[in-house]
Amino acid sequence: MTATQFGITQYNDKVVRQFALMTVVWGVVGMLVGVIIAAQLLLPELNFDLPWLTYSRLRPLHTNAVIFAFGGSAIFATSYYIVQRTCHTRLFSDRLAAFTFWGWQTIIVLAAISLPMGWTTGKEYAELEWPIDLLIAVVWVAYAIVFLGTLVKRKVQHIYVANWFFAAFIITVAVLHIVNSAEIPVTLTKSYSAYAGVVDAMVQWWYGHNAVGFFLTAAFLGMMYYFIPKQAGRPIYSYRLSIVHFWSLISIYMWAGPHHLHYTTLPDWAQTLGMVFSLMLLAPSWGGMINGIMTLSGAWHKLRTDPILKFLIVSLSFYGMSTFEGPMMSIKTVNALSHYTDWTIGHVHSGALGWVAMVSVGSLYMLIPRLYGRTEMWSTKLIDVHFWVFTIGIVLYVASMWIAGVTQGLMWRATNPDGTLTYTFVEALKATYPYYAVRLLGGTMVLGGMFIMVYNVAKTVGAGKAADVAIPAPAHA
Ligand code: HEM
Ligand code: HEM
Repeated sequence: MTATQFGITQYNDKVVRQFALMTVVWGVVGMLVGVIIAAQLLLPELNFDLPWLTYSRLRPLHTNAVIFAFGGSAIFATSYYIVQRTCHTRLFSDRLAAFTFWGWQTIIVLAAISLPMGWTTGKEYAELEWPIDLLIAVVWVAYAIVFLGTLVKRKVQHIYVANWFFAAFIITVAVLHIVNSAEIPVTLTKSYSAYAGVVDAMVQWWYGHNAVGFFLTAAFLGMMYYFIPKQAGRPIYSYRLSIVHFWSLISIYMWAGPHHLHYTTLPDWAQTLGMVFSLMLLAPSWGGMINGIMTLSGAWHKLRTDPILKFLIVSLSFYGMSTFEGPMMSIKTVNALSHYTDWTIGHVHSGALGWVAMVSVGSLYMLIPRLYGRTEMWSTKLIDVHFWVFTIGIVLYVASMWIAGVTQGLMWRATNPDGTLTYTFVEALKATYPYYAVRLLGGTMVLGGMFIMVYNVAKTVGAGKAADVAIPAPAHA
């Protein structure tokens, strides 16, 4: 007999378990494709002359898999877990929640088929063709109803700050997706954007940058604001700062997109606007980072023994680093050097691997045992090994791309006294090769870390039992 039949209401943890496990699966798949394309940049013949294994098709497969399959599943799992705990209520609708799980997984499978086939809109991070776009819109609306509906039926008056971040992320992504995906279908697998020329570029990078700001940042800040205080066993350093952080971050992010279009035909004033707002973004980003890290004040000693906290705190350090680097790269003169080079790729992965993947992995290590009726993972030692392999791998990846990027930028712009170029493009490419090898090594270590995680999760799940937790009675709320 279940607790529900005894009249005790439980949280809906089934959907959390499903998304949590799929996060690990898609993390491995997405990073494996990352390692394959990193290897292809070193040895192009690794595409075996097969069209669906070419770099141009696998690259969007990688970005979609890591951002939307891995990152997306991590967000669904944690947002459903957190909103129930902080609102003391079950999810608004079990059926709709199940629909979001199966719908999202279907979208991922469709992406995994259509991208290697070469069916693409050609818009970065929005490559999926129109029938899949429609399905995304439907699943996203269902997600909004489940999440916001749960907030509405909450049993506590207060809305915890993590939920503000998740709610803003859900609403914004809906608007971004619908506006940027406006397209004219030609066949089932081909469409053209409803916008043309520079307007298309502006809409695309308004979308693209806010995909970073909301998909890869706001949602993970929601995760951070719940799991760091929980794992540290301390309240958030400054609740007031978290509210200032929230409002300033979401209002500034919207305007920064044009920094992706420096020196293009976009009007100059719009480029400058993008730059200025990007510089302003440093303040809320660092406010959030400091708030998270200072939550540990008085509990720093825990960092010595708790590898989950290490994941969470180092992720915040990477967040701080990439949100310092981003504003610098948005300065037009700096961007003149960094744009088109591997510096951008270094920046991307210090954010995406260092921040997004690390905070997700740390949160999952805390979440998964609780979802299976255990207090901790099967092996804490293996979490520690994962942490070190992951961290060293990320540092190798990011540092090699920084050096490669600056080398490329300097070689491309070097001129002889007579005005001719000092280096050919091929010379710059040759200079980059050793760094591609280091990146491959770093990426392989990161992937290796994910395999350690798979083993530890399998052992934890095998030894545990799917457990749905009862909701505390109102007296305790
Ligand atoms: C084992 C880990 C990973 C490896 C080896 C890897 C490798 C790569 C490679 C080789 C590229 C193409 C770079 C280029 O075109 O020059 C790339 C692009 C990208 N990756 Fe990863 N990646 C990994 C993990 C991740 C994760 C976890 C995320 C996000 C959460 C991510 C997000 C991206 C994005 C957004 C791009 C496109 C960047 C741009 O267009 O500027 N990657 N990755
Ligand atoms: C204050 C925060 C940030 C600012 C102002 C910022 C700024 C920038 C700038 C100027 C670029 C280079 C654009 C170009 O030359 O084409 C860039 C690229 C990028 N950034 Fe950031 N960044 C920030 C934080 C982050 C974070 C935290 C992440 C990931 C979690 C991230 C992910 C990316 C990605 C994926 C790209 C590559 C886009 C593409 O060309 O495909 N950024 N960012």
